[in-house]
Amino acid sequence: MVAWSLHIMSKQRWTPLFLLYMGWLVEAMDAADTIHLLAHQPPQTEAEMGDNVSVNCTFNYNGNTSDRMFGKFYVQNSHQKKEYPVDVMCQSAVSSDKPSACHLSHTIVNASPKDENVYLCEVHIPSSEGNIEVRGHGTNLSVYAEPSLTVIQPLSPLVSGSEATLECRVHGFYPQNPSVMWFHRGAPVPPSDITNHSTQNNDGTFTLHSRNKFSPTVEDHNTETVCQVSHPVWRYNKTASISLNVSYGPITVNVTSDTDAVTNGSVRVTNGSSLILRCVADGNPRPGTQWLGGSIKTAHHEETLHISEVKKEDGGVYLCVVKNEYGEMNTSITLLVTDRRANGKVSNREALYGLAVIPVALALAIIVISLQKRGFYPLGKVNPFEELSSSEVVVLYNEQKSHKARSEH
Ligand SMILES: *[C@@H]1O[C@H](CO)[C@@H](O)[C@H](O)[C@H]1NC(C)=O
Ligand SMILES: *[C@@H]1O[C@H](CO)[C@@H](O)[C@H](O)[C@H]1NC(C)=O
Ligand SMILES: *[C@@H]1O[C@H](CO)[C@@H](O)[C@H](O)[C@H]1NC(C)=O
Ligand SMILES: *[C@@H]1O[C@H](CO)[C@@H](O)[C@H](O)[C@H]1NC(C)=O
Ligand SMILES: *[C@@H]1O[C@H](CO)[C@@H](O)[C@H](O)[C@H]1NC(C)=O
Ligand SMILES: *[C@@H]1O[C@H](CO)[C@@H](O)[C@H](O)[C@H]1NC(C)=O
Ligand SMILES: *[C@@H]1O[C@H](CO)[C@@H](O)[C@H](O)[C@H]1NC(C)=O
Ligand SMILES: *[C@@H]1O[C@H](CO)[C@@H](O)[C@H](O)[C@H]1NC(C)=O
Ligand SMILES: *[C@@H]1O[C@H](CO)[C@@H](O)[C@H](O)[C@H]1NC(C)=O
Ligand SMILES: *[C@@H]1O[C@H](CO)[C@@H](O)[C@H](O)[C@H]1NC(C)=O
Ligand SMILES: *[C@@H]1O[C@H](CO)[C@@H](O)[C@H](O)[C@H]1NC(C)=O
Repeated sequence: MVAWSLHIMSKQRWTPLFLLYMGWLVEAMDAADTIHLLAHQPPQTEAEMGDNVSVNCTFNYNGNTSDRMFGKFYVQNSHQKKEYPVDVMCQSAVSSDKPSACHLSHTIVNASPKDENVYLCEVHIPSSEGNIEVRGHGTNLSVYAEPSLTVIQPLSPLVSGSEATLECRVHGFYPQNPSVMWFHRGAPVPPSDITNHSTQNNDGTFTLHSRNKFSPTVEDHNTETVCQVSHPVWRYNKTASISLNVSYGPITVNVTSDTDAVTNGSVRVTNGSSLILRCVADGNPRPGTQWLGGSIKTAHHEETLHISEVKKEDGGVYLCVVKNEYGEMNTSITLLVTDRRANGKVSNREALYGLAVIPVALALAIIVISLQKRGFYPLGKVNPFEELSSSEVVVLYNEQKSHKARSEH
């Protein structure tokens, strides 16, 4: 704007008194003797709910600062017209050719949404030689409130394969329409899966219930879903996150053993030794385990089946049944009880195989002895002969058993 813009239509006698300076315009003159001047007001200001905020108005005045000034702010809309009279403070000009800077201010205490308005300032300066009216274009005050609470939770327990709803509750914010984004396992949730519902609270703030409908899967268990709420006037984005707890029935069940190798659904145990079988299943909540079968009369309600001394009659098929409220599974395991190497009482076939073992064992013994001589094996620490013979016996016994089974047909 050009300084010293002077626009007086008539009454040249006012000229020396009302020189216009930056932002000081003579807009028009009333028929007789009213001069209209423009004051400066910031067009827009924001206040956080509950804060005190001042709306300000400044203008330059070339007249005598001792002149009486009647200042006010007012709001005017379809609902109301309110006036707030305020004092006008002017700083005297340092030199006579510079105008005085005048200022008026109105403080809104404990700002709330109902204070949102355009605050216009107006100063009336009566004078014997004519009235002066100063007006501003108004400051638009907007109030904001950041959510006091953002939480996310399922409306009902999450069960794999059943439709479920997560709700993001955002409380105590203003203005009404923030943007809500949902992220599931890091990826944005399509808006078509989201519905919103917002309500207004007594203090003018809003509460939003944003809901995400989806069908959780087992893969969703322990993954994160995030709800992010933002508004351009807020200083921060609000997020809430939840680690999904998806319930599901058992999907796999495995039997393992600390003591013996489990191969192909069966475990081989020597008569008289101890056995520990562990049944491991997934599922949420963790399924209960039950062992059935064999000579076990009472079911074991435990993951672990422990037989301290395996007897011949313990052999057979065992069933591990795992179960929670969302499903049930079972797996079978065959317990093969193998004889300890019986003294003398060896069947023909066993004897035959046993004979075949002897040359192999002898050959190994020779190798071992020669290795020991060369210093590879410290004497007495390892006895490969014994190790070999006992495992061989297991293999032999089982081969014999399967032969028997076949010949029975
Ligand atoms: C706002 O002003 C009132 C009274 O002038 C005072 O009691 C209150 O503490 C102020 N609030 C803030 C947030 O400054
Ligand atoms: C109004 O002026 C006061 C100083 O007089 C200042 O603290 C305040 O921030 C101003 N208000 C606005 C909305 O600019
Ligand atoms: C301003 O007005 C006061 C009385 O209202 C008067 O005493 C003073 O001389 C005036 N000053 C100027 C510079 O006209
Ligand atoms: C005041 O500001 C708000 C928020 O920026 C805007 O929505 C509204 O239209 C403005 N009002 C006026 C009268 O300019
Ligand atoms: C839900 O509301 C948010 C914020 O108001 C908006 O970003 C989103 O597009 C809305 N979605 C639907 C489906 O209404
Ligand atoms: C807030 O969220 C918006 C989009 O929702 C994003 O553009 C902006 O960068 C975020 N701001 C911060 C500070 O995280
Ligand atoms: C997850 O849900 C199951 C019920 O399905 C419950 O037993 C378990 O305690 C829940 N876990 C957590 C961390 O809330
Ligand atoms: C497992 O048993 C099946 C028959 O039940 C058989 O065909 C397969 O060869 C066995 N596998 C092993 C590694 O023993
Ligand atoms: C199994 O071992 C026990 C002693 O450990 C023995 O009394 C029993 O005869 C053995 N049974 C068979 C079938 O080998
Ligand atoms: C069972 O074994 C399979 C294959 O080794 C594995 O993928 C699965 O996770 C195991 N299940 C449990 C409950 O450990
Ligand atoms: C074991 O599972 C099969 C189906 O896989 C089912 O038919 C059977 O009834 C189950 N047995 C027990 C004892 O639960």
